Amino acid sequence: MFIAGLPVLWVFLSNSASSIEFHTFSHYFTAQSTKAGYESKLESVFRTASMKDKTVIITTLNDAWAKPGSVFDLFLESFRLGNETQWLLNHLVVITWDQKTNAYCLALHKHCYQVETKGANFTGEVLFMTPTYLHMMWRRTEFLTSVLEMGYNFVFTDTDIMWLRDPFKQFYEDADFQIACDAFNGNSSDIYNYPNGGFKYIKSNNRTIWFNKFWFNSSKEYPGLGEQAVFNKIKMHPLISHMKLKIRFLSTSYFGGFCEPSKDFNKVSTMHANCCVGIDNKVNDLKILLEDWKKYMALSEIDKKQSNLTWSVPQSCRFEND
Ligand SMILES: *[C@@H]1O[C@H](CO)[C@@H](O)[C@H](O)[C@H]1NC(C)=O
Ligand SMILES: *[C@@H]1O[C@H](CO)[C@@H](O)[C@H](O)[C@H]1NC(C)=O
Ligand SMILES: *[C@@H]1O[C@H](CO)[C@@H](O)[C@H](O)[C@H]1NC(C)=O
Ligand SMILES: *[C@@H]1O[C@H](CO)[C@@H](O)[C@H](O)[C@H]1NC(C)=O
Ligand SMILES: *[C@@H]1O[C@H](CO)[C@@H](O)[C@H](O)[C@H]1NC(C)=O
Ligand SMILES: *[C@@H]1O[C@H](CO)[C@@H](O)[C@H](O)[C@H]1NC(C)=O
Repeated sequence: MFIAGLPVLWVFLSNSASSIEFHTFSHYFTAQSTKAGYESKLESVFRTASMKDKTVIITTLNDAWAKPGSVFDLFLESFRLGNETQWLLNHLVVITWDQKTNAYCLALHKHCYQVETKGANFTGEVLFMTPTYLHMMWRRTEFLTSVLEMGYNFVFTDTDIMWLRDPFKQFYEDADFQIACDAFNGNSSDIYNYPNGGFKYIKSNNRTIWFNKFWFNSSKEYPGLGEQAVFNKIKMHPLISHMKLKIRFLSTSYFGGFCEPSKDFNKVSTMHANCCVGIDNKVNDLKILLEDWKKYMALSEIDKKQSNLTWSVPQSCRFEND
């Protein structure tokens, strides 16, 4: 028992294990003893939440969105209102940055994990594109890379994305890296799409681990840019085609948002409160969005097929990038 929680031991263990890469991210992990030997707390959370094929759904939650009636509540509610999406909650791991948020999470959800922030303070509303926002986003990229290194595939989702249908039915089978778009030009292979890092499905393999590191490294070359902007800078880099990383851009017909809504209620899988700045605006419009969805779900099967419903949002959300 006295060994549990000693990071020093974990560093020792990860050094002696074959995975040297893992050591780089060892600051995320604290060791704990289990029947199987030693595994990090994070690994234990992931093992419990994982689907059979080692896939998890991940979101990161910061303090300001973790209040009753706020974005996180709506996020969880969407899984319950969606068509056959409730089971996906069993595979959702919520990453938090502080104790208070983690406690809020645990009261509502079973898989929550608090990541060390190395002195950074992500408490309070982190305003879009401020240095703290950028720091948080890059920490997220770094963290997600460590998840790939642990051998887990994941769907990363922002918390302001409503899950209305099972997205796994829409993903491409052969792609390494699939990402939703603010604007989709009709060609899922076309690098000139406008991706949005808030929703991506990444399989764990050499190519994606390499790419995530390359992405993270590139942040140093483009100080002041967010991960989305850096992605756009590096997406044409010859190394990426050299590494044969297969990227696919997801259609807004299925993975829509306030920038470009998914028009057909019979197709929509997720809806993102993108092109929207400010919690109050997001909460307001996401609530309306869920009401629209409830109206649709209440229709008979025949009326659903024939329905010509349209979203009554965005309303409070103005067309700004987020
Ligand atoms: C919900 O999902 C089931 C199973 O995939 C499907 O048969 C049904 O048509 C769906 N309903 C709607 C409204 O999409
Ligand atoms: C972090 O920031 C919040 C609000 O911005 C403040 O209330 C809190 O005391 C800070 N925490 C630390 C550890 O500095
Ligand atoms: C889609 O984009 C890819 C990559 O740019 C290109 O090779 C392909 O021809 C495009 N497909 C269509 C149908 O335009
Ligand atoms: C790529 O991954 C395989 C296992 O999937 C591993 O055996 C191989 O060494 C890796 N190659 C490189 C260059 O990392
Ligand atoms: C990232 O940067 C580190 C340290 O500068 C370097 O060792 C590594 O090779 C880089 N990785 C990639 C994929 O660019
Ligand atoms: C579709 O829209 C038309 C006109 O806006 C309306 O008359 C009709 O009832 C709608 N159909 C359904 C199934 O809601």
